[in-house]
Amino acid sequence: MTFEKQILCIGAGYVGGPTMAMIAMKCPRYKVTVVDINSARIAAWNSNALPIYEPGLDALVQKTRGTNLFFSTGIEQGIQAADIIFVSVNTPTKTFGHGAGKAADLQFWEKTARQILVHATNNKIVVEKSTLPVRTAEAMERILNQNTKNIHFEVVSNPEFLAEGTAIADLENPDRVLIGSQETPDGLKARKAIVDIYAHWVPRDRIIECNVWSAELSKLTANAFLAQRISSINSISALCERTEADITEVAAAIGKDARIGAKFLRAGVGFGGSCFKKDILNLVYICQSYGLTEIAEYWESVIRINEWQERRFVRTMLESMFNTIAGKKIALLGFAFKADTGDTRESPAIVVARSLLEEHADVVVSDPKALDNAREDLKDVPQALSFEVDPYRATDGAHAVALLTDWQLYRDLDYERILQSMEQPAFLFDGRNILDHKKLFDLGFNVFAIGKAPLKHF
Ligand code: NAD
Ligand code: UGA
Repeated sequence: MTFEKQILCIGAGYVGGPTMAMIAMKCPRYKVTVVDINSARIAAWNSNALPIYEPGLDALVQKTRGTNLFFSTGIEQGIQAADIIFVSVNTPTKTFGHGAGKAADLQFWEKTARQILVHATNNKIVVEKSTLPVRTAEAMERILNQNTKNIHFEVVSNPEFLAEGTAIADLENPDRVLIGSQETPDGLKARKAIVDIYAHWVPRDRIIECNVWSAELSKLTANAFLAQRISSINSISALCERTEADITEVAAAIGKDARIGAKFLRAGVGFGGSCFKKDILNLVYICQSYGLTEIAEYWESVIRINEWQERRFVRTMLESMFNTIAGKKIALLGFAFKADTGDTRESPAIVVARSLLEEHADVVVSDPKALDNAREDLKDVPQALSFEVDPYRATDGAHAVALLTDWQLYRDLDYERILQSMEQPAFLFDGRNILDHKKLFDLGFNVFAIGKAPLKHF
């Protein structure tokens, strides 16, 4: 079969894999190839055990793989054949040198640009899919267009807004698709080529076109605003615990105001995930580098509150369990940073587990999809630590249960059975506010939720 266009994606991760699978599905006349330097990851994409868990992903890949979706380690051939190259490599926080701990580490990004430069033999559109500091496209264009092969590269920003756990639904029915380009004739032509891809399934009024800098900055800003809502509601949750106000009632009341809106107001143990913290730190770094100190401090406080909320959760556990948890078995229900993913990057569960272990608790980690990642995250920990996928075995003989991920399965457990198997008094800490606290209290648990008065039998 001859294809109308060849699309390449460099980076077969949480974004590259699902995004390209969706494009392949919706654009059957385009050939979509996803490449990665990690050959084990590519092998997994080509197997029946995909490298990431995402509801709906297996079915999507089954339908397209081998037809117009291909996973490969052939980066060089991929670059040569492609008309459009999406770059979806990781852009973590820099851990060394200038800007360490805040700035984005662009080494993977720049390596990709140089690979494209070396292997390209004709004009290409290069699409920034990774989340990048504002004005990265400028650097990218400088690197690419200094070639002596008479090849023209046009860099377009098309940031991704999918959330893990709902990636397939988000890709199929996005709130918006953002496409930013230079406003030159070549830039506008490249922009149109990207618009044409999404127009296969996204209503035209949801495809937003703008200048390339606005697209880059909008991505960082969207994540900063989302994270800020969580820190805002979490800050009020602490006040609720002191005043007998209930955070669920407060969130419902303020969320009814159409100007505020009801979403992203769930108080909890803190936000995790690979991006919120990294992207805010990146924003902070950019503000600092433009001398905008007050703005940098404002956004930094969103992260400070999040870290404080994680520590506060552990402090509540310690204080309520008579100020000692040494030798006590504590079961952590959930280790993923949110439900419906096996991803544990920046999960609050990591902080909670480590803090409990520092107090010499005997920690059992349970999660339906994230135990492999959890083992990796805690592999340096010498203390009493075990992993158990079955929640009933994990909680058997425990002094306390801490619910850290909002998996549906944890709502549906038989808590009477769990209570019977636990040490008494039994403590339950609901770090996601998803359980029926009154019912659990009536069963006999001492219940501590976020932003609610504790329900104690003593
Ligand atoms: P990831 O770590 O899961 O995947 C990145 C992949 O890029 C890895 O498999 C890595 O091996 C590969 N890679 C790195 N350098 C390479 C190179 N030179 N050549 C080929 N492959 C290379 O990361 P991710 O979660 O998919 O995130 C990618 C980008 O998308 C980041 O900038 C992130 O901020 C952004 N983003 C992520 C999400 C999300 O939900 N995870 C959502 C929106 C945006
Ligand atoms: C987030 C954004 O929602 C996506 O739009 C963005 O594309 C992505 O980051 C990214 O750039 O990586 P994600 O981190 O996958 O997506 O998941 P979210 O649903 O945003 O949840 C993030 C964290 O916040 C989770 O730990 C979640 O449990 C927590 N959260 C979320 C709350 O504590 N309360 C809420 O009300 C909502």
